Amino acid sequence: MKKHQIVIDYNVYATLSDMESEDITLMEQAVGARSNAYAPYSNFQVGAAVLLENGEVIIGNNQENASYPSGLCAERVAIFHAGAKFPGITIKAIAITATSKNFVVDEPAAPCGNCRQAMIEYEQKQKTPVKILMMGEKGNVIKFNSLSDILPLAFDNSFL
Ligand code: THU
Repeated sequence: MKKHQIVIDYNVYATLSDMESEDITLMEQAVGARSNAYAPYSNFQVGAAVLLENGEVIIGNNQENASYPSGLCAERVAIFHAGAKFPGITIKAIAITATSKNFVVDEPAAPCGNCRQAMIEYEQKQKTPVKILMMGEKGNVIKFNSLSDILPLAFDNSFL
């Protein structure tokens, strides 16, 4: 038996204003998207903004449904739209933020496992890391350098 270890580096910023201007701008777009979420069942509103190499920003927010599993998370709405509108254009970064009508979201919004798997497909396809920024409605902002940092040992098409 051999012991292995996975070490993940990431940056924590006390406030959004401590980040680089490109990151601040992207997160502000995610905040804007968040306010248009359709989340009448959970009251948990998530916004996402995808920055592409051509400078375009594609936003998404969670879209819920009376049949709960038919809804979709903000991250997948955004990344699928980016893939649909700009296929083949490299994705540089994704910003995610959440708020709630029921409580204060003071921790960074962590994407669910389904979204991590959906997003990493694009990173694997483009063979370039995608930065990921996470924020609540207040408090710390965290930044990872690659989607693989938040989904180690990911399933990919090499298994198929
Ligand atoms: N949600 C997202 O939009 N992204 C995530 O990564 C986690 C959860 C949404 C789905 C649902 O509309 C609400 O948040 C509560 O789960």
